[in-house]
Amino acid sequence: MNAPVVPWQIRLEAPADMARVEALNAESFGPGRFAKSAYRLREGVSPIAALSFVAVENDVLRGSVRFWPIKVGGHEELLLGPLAVQSSQRGHGIGIALMQAGIAAAQQGPWRSILLIGDEPYYTKVGFSRLPPGRVKFPGPVDQNRILGLSLKAGEILNLSGQVRRAQIDEAVCADGAGVG
Ligand SMILES: CC(C)(COP(=O)(O)OP(=O)(O)OC[C@H]1O[C@@H](n2cnc3c(N)ncnc32)[C@H](O)[C@@H]1OP(=O)(O)O)[C@@H](O)C(=O)NCCC(=O)NCCS
Repeated sequence: MNAPVVPWQIRLEAPADMARVEALNAESFGPGRFAKSAYRLREGVSPIAALSFVAVENDVLRGSVRFWPIKVGGHEELLLGPLAVQSSQRGHGIGIALMQAGIAAAQQGPWRSILLIGDEPYYTKVGFSRLPPGRVKFPGPVDQNRILGLSLKAGEILNLSGQVRRAQIDEAVCADGAGVG
């Protein structure tokens, strides 16, 4: 069966898209987004360019997804999000298509798994499932039922455990040789 014809295209985010992506995220999540646990993990860390995708229609930005590197129990993993679709364009499959593009690209890389904090009924559509409560600990208060994971290599989310930290902080600690337990 042929795939349905859609008016938008998914492509890698380019440097010229950055301002539009930031504006879409501001509009979709509001100023409260900076206080969220996931944003603390992104602070001062760049998204992974090879996993940042946009949906565009005639050069109009319709949606965006980015992935951040994080450390879980000392291993580098991925954090999905923000994922945002222009409010007038929701419900047409753009969010799912963006995530599928990102997940397919991530499967080509060295990572074992993707984590996110979000609504399970939505993210199960692309293969995420709830982690057993208490296995990973995000900074700040997080509803355990919203911690979801996806294995990029068979069964890897079952191996996830420990503190979730910002990637760069752990790298700096390692570089100093002054790691704390
Ligand atoms: C969440 C969001 C990205 C979804 O994008 P979208 O392009 O509308 O989603 P899709 O069209 O790919 O998927 C739509 C399907 O998912 C369902 N869905 C969407 N959001 C959902 C949610 N929060 N919980 C459960 N199901 C959801 C829809 O009901 C629809 O189901 P159907 O196909 O059975 O009718 C979009 O609504 C958005 O930008 N919201 C604001 C920002 C946000 O909350 N982002 C996610 C947190 S990081």
